[in-house]
Amino acid sequence: MSSFPPVDVTIYPYDCDAYGHMNQAAYMLMFERARWDALARGPGQDLFRRHGVWPAVRRATVDFQAPAFPGDVLRVDFEVEKIGGSSLEMRQRATRLRDQATIAELQILFVMIDQAGKPARMPAEVAAAFGGRPTARPGELMRHDVGDVTLAVDARGDGPALLLVHGYPLDHTLWAHQVATLARWRRIAPDLRGAGASDAPGGGYSMASYADDLARLLDRLGVERAVVVGLSMGGYIAFELLRRHRQRVMGLVLVDSRADADGPEQRKGRDDMIELARSKGAAAIAERMVPRLLGRTTQQTQPNVVEQLRDMIGRCPVPGIVGALGAMRDRPDSTPLLPGIDVPTLVVVGAEDELTPPAMSRTMASAIPAATLTTIPGAGHLAPLEAPTAVTRVIAEFLESLPKP
Ligand code: MLT
Repeated sequence: MSSFPPVDVTIYPYDCDAYGHMNQAAYMLMFERARWDALARGPGQDLFRRHGVWPAVRRATVDFQAPAFPGDVLRVDFEVEKIGGSSLEMRQRATRLRDQATIAELQILFVMIDQAGKPARMPAEVAAAFGGRPTARPGELMRHDVGDVTLAVDARGDGPALLLVHGYPLDHTLWAHQVATLARWRRIAPDLRGAGASDAPGGGYSMASYADDLARLLDRLGVERAVVVGLSMGGYIAFELLRRHRQRVMGLVLVDSRADADGPEQRKGRDDMIELARSKGAAAIAERMVPRLLGRTTQQTQPNVVEQLRDMIGRCPVPGIVGALGAMRDRPDSTPLLPGIDVPTLVVVGAEDELTPPAMSRTMASAIPAATLTTIPGAGHLAPLEAPTAVTRVIAEFLESLPKP
């Protein structure tokens, strides 16, 4: 496996010894030059620096097979043999162009180190650049550059892709149960820009930028199409994905969401919340939102969920809260999109959801040609958190019903 194209290197007289043969040290330099060239043509010579790591050579073995001379052009190809959590093993082969003779092979082992010289984990972009599948330990977040921000992503499993998009003011941990249990699917649960452990710039928040971030994230992960599962604002983003990146969506799950835009009263409410976030911070938003987000059953019977939600909102960066509120306030009406949705769709709603009540989900589901609707008893606006097993089950059944990609 390698995504690096071969590189041609010319041998000069100064690479050679007194007898005119390419000398031993020059072999190492030639292989090194080829690697730098390959980086320059591909992911960039700053690939490692961008991620604060450096590939330290731990072992290098050259197998010399034939002499080379000044003027020879050697084609160097690359084969990545193994990518571990922090190591990379690569073979480089130099073949002379004029007679196709194999001149030498290099077997080289790199270990990623950080700026203090300590072993570091292989950043996902680095693994991907070398043709590997970025991997992480369960629960460990990978970071992916998607343009002007880096997103933190919990990605697990193999199979067709499932993109789980959280709502406001939340993060990817909303989907903890679904990510842990929806086996046979490649579960991808990012923190949106401004949420959780992702970058939280001072501006640049809109449904369009959230959707573009996610499309770039899919590019980074080598995913062409995904079933998009969006909760509330995650649903607004899913609509935007349909508008801007329709070919990436192979199925849709809208959880506790709605299609219409904000009216004047709701827009005013967003501005008040922006004021509150700016003046009193995320804890004040949590205080205000927790009772609205959770159903009454959860509030009465699941104090751990109440606590979990308060923590989740409390760690949401203020610029991200403000950005999301502005993005929701200014979002377009997605109602005209509904009759044209031509991918299998599941609408899920908590029976006690007061922000986007069941009647709203019923109306939305009936406007989408191939949609089914499921109501989750005893859950409010955050059904995946409040009734995780029930929500995972209905999503699993929906996924099972899809045509195999
Ligand atoms: C969400 O859960 O994402 C938000 O409550 C949606 C909204 O306020 O419109």
